[in-house]
Amino acid sequence: MDRQTLSALAHSDHPIAAPASESTVDRLLGRAIRRPDAHLLDLGCGEGAWLLRALRTHPGATAVGVDISGQGFDRTLESAARLGVADRLELRQEDVTRYRSSRKADVVLSVGAAYAFGELLPTLEAARGHLADDGVVLLGDCFWEREPDPALRAELEDGPQKYGDLPTTVARVVADGWTPVHGHVSTLAEWDEYEWNWTGSLARWALDHPDHPDRDQALEVSAAHRRSWLEGYRGVLGFVFLLLRPSP
Ligand SMILES: C[S@@+](CC[C@H](N)C(=O)[O-])C[C@H]1O[C@@H](n2cnc3c(N)ncnc32)[C@H](O)[C@@H]1O
Repeated sequence: MDRQTLSALAHSDHPIAAPASESTVDRLLGRAIRRPDAHLLDLGCGEGAWLLRALRTHPGATAVGVDISGQGFDRTLESAARLGVADRLELRQEDVTRYRSSRKADVVLSVGAAYAFGELLPTLEAARGHLADDGVVLLGDCFWEREPDPALRAELEDGPQKYGDLPTTVARVVADGWTPVHGHVSTLAEWDEYEWNWTGSLARWALDHPDHPDRDQALEVSAAHRRSWLEGYRGVLGFVFLLLRPSP
């Protein structure tokens, strides 16, 4: 089973691929969307769950989601049709670093997807290029809630993305020319809900498909992820959402 299929199964009960409860998602979107006809762009939208939620609660809004994978797009577009919002949602399977549009967005989202651009600051630079003059960026990214031990740091910072503590993360964003107008730090309960859903959905699928050739792999991935979380980053890795406007 490939990584994308595993991820789709793991997110089947928690389509938002980040540690955020439904009320947190609604509150952040409610703060970010400041006009009835707002246009949203999600860079690294996953299945498009943030956008679907936004369109449900904001009947005049329109949205474009871009993701390199396209996994789950069908399911989201079916839900959008059922909810009567499909004509306001476009999902594009494309590399965000190549995505260009002449239409500026009132809200640009990047949640858990900064690695697509390498790390935080190139992500904000790309967001700035897509943002309307009075627009808002909804950024979600990891930070170190506590100092990790070297092995954990090496495991979770194996790409170009390095994390700081919360004050350092926010200070970098501010120094880059952004003013935070709201924020939210994921609670331990939000992390636990996300991780139990991730590991549990995958394990449940495996147990429900005893004859499937990928059953053992799914069980192994679920168990390895659960160990890595419970024995490693639980309470150490944090996640912060920032609503950002360009500084004057
Ligand atoms: C952790 S998921 C977050 C998904 C979504 N933002 C959410 O919160 O539900 C990160 C997403 O970034 C996407 N991604 C990674 N690199 C990308 C790229 N170069 N272009 C577009 N999408 C990319 C992945 O396919 C994945 O769906």
